[in-house]
Amino acid sequence: MSVAAQSSDSQISTLQSTLKSTIQSVGPCVMVIFGATGDLTKRKLIPALYNLAQQNLLPDQFSIVGIGRTAMPTEDFKHKILSALKEFATGDVKDTLLSWLAPRLHYLSGDFQSPDTYQQLKEMLSHIDQEQGTQGNYLHYLATSPTFFEKITQQLGHAGIAQESEETNNDQWRRVIFEKPFGQDLASAQKLNKAIGQVIKEQQIYRIDHYLGKETVQNILIFRFGNGLFEPVWNHRYIDHVQITVAEQVGVEARGGYYDASGALRDMIQNHLFQLLAMVAIEPPVSFAADAVRDEKSKVLRAIEPLSPEDVLRNVVRGQYGAGQNSSRRSDNSSENSSNQQPLVAYREEPKVDPQSQTETFVAMKLNIDNWRWAGVPFYLRTGKHLPERVSEIAIQFKQVPSLLFRDTSMDELVPNFLVIRLQPNEGISLQFGAKVPGPKVQMGSVDMNFCYADYFNATPTTGYETLLYDCMIGDATLFQRSDNVELGWEVVTPILDVWQAMPAREFPNYAAGSWGPKAAEELLARDGRQWRASSPVFCSPSA
Ligand code: BG6
Repeated sequence: MSVAAQSSDSQISTLQSTLKSTIQSVGPCVMVIFGATGDLTKRKLIPALYNLAQQNLLPDQFSIVGIGRTAMPTEDFKHKILSALKEFATGDVKDTLLSWLAPRLHYLSGDFQSPDTYQQLKEMLSHIDQEQGTQGNYLHYLATSPTFFEKITQQLGHAGIAQESEETNNDQWRRVIFEKPFGQDLASAQKLNKAIGQVIKEQQIYRIDHYLGKETVQNILIFRFGNGLFEPVWNHRYIDHVQITVAEQVGVEARGGYYDASGALRDMIQNHLFQLLAMVAIEPPVSFAADAVRDEKSKVLRAIEPLSPEDVLRNVVRGQYGAGQNSSRRSDNSSENSSNQQPLVAYREEPKVDPQSQTETFVAMKLNIDNWRWAGVPFYLRTGKHLPERVSEIAIQFKQVPSLLFRDTSMDELVPNFLVIRLQPNEGISLQFGAKVPGPKVQMGSVDMNFCYADYFNATPTTGYETLLYDCMIGDATLFQRSDNVELGWEVVTPILDVWQAMPAREFPNYAAGSWGPKAAEELLARDGRQWRASSPVFCSPSA
């Protein structure tokens, strides 16, 4: 993970060129994508590889092998991939780069369970090594249903193309990226960790959480530990509570089959929101080395107070959307007409969803981190589908000042300080504080100091997968989850899954699509004398 930032244009460009000249280059390798005909490949992986190539971060000795169950000649695969790239690239697509990419694309059709597929893959890889000089370095990306993770790893092992020892010499590397979800609960995650651990070593395993590829998420560590200003107040003495919201405007779309067996707790909380919580709450690591950061993350997850069944009933709210209307306000860059309200169907009527489904599409919860830094500071988390807007942000509310000076001021006017880290869209950081409203009377108003990424950095749009793929190719696992990180996440949510399984949600559906979730989510904070922070209508101007 490499980051640097200052304010003026000249400082930024000096830093950027320094970084470019010191950036580690990726060595020769082949990236093998299992599930190459799926959405992830065309929407994210190929555009991300294209962006890396554009920044000269991929070596000439590079190839991609797509594996899918659909039978098709390599030429058809190339055609599909390159035309999808024109649709999903994050910027202009240059013909020169397409000509660079095309001869590096290969396709193999086959059954993921059959040993034949892996023998053919082995032959293909050895041929590419000879032709392309890729030197036997392989990155296997499992962009398949998780049901195949164990089988694919075992078969890669049997074919001898996953291990780094014996058949290979010491300079060769083999790595495997596992997409989420990694397990369905603690027991299945442990079982999967054990099974893949019998084939490859932990250093070769890259469990991906695409939230860690977001610049704004990586910036949390720089913001906290690269500035002397914030760290002294980043604790229970000054912070009242933390709110983490990942709200989605979309529903389950075409993913009903997957989602109905998963739900918001497994799909978002156990991974993405826990990663955000860990970034906000960790102690300073001794370095940005993978294990130093991941050790600290594990400590935070371990310090989360275990939830008893009573805690689950009291502090965890589940919701499922019923029919409703999409919202009138969009906070992303979409050009969609905001006044054009559309009816939205109930979750239970979505394609491939059980009409009696008990799956939650919304979760709000309160967690306590029982350590010296955070004792007594609640962390409120919420996420949901079909909420009024797409917004992901972390809001840190600081403690109120003593009211002595302001006895004659109504307490409503005494605004608490909020530090808001906006992850998406219109990325930035905002500090909210009180200021005197001009005039003879002492009156207080709330004002914002905003930093918008778009104003400071000329960053071109990315898919969010660039850093993750690049890091994996250079062997930096800082932004990937270690086995204990994943299992600790499951340990926190497993009691919730148990209670929910024992007690079906009779009130489902309990929020209208296009609303901010069930009433109980408001009550969760209201009981503590708090409320969810309304996201700023215009945090950073989308056009900035
Ligand atoms: C995925 C979930 O991991 O993250 C999806 O499976 C969710 O359900 C998505 O929509 C959200 O990602 P982002 O980057 O759009 O916030």
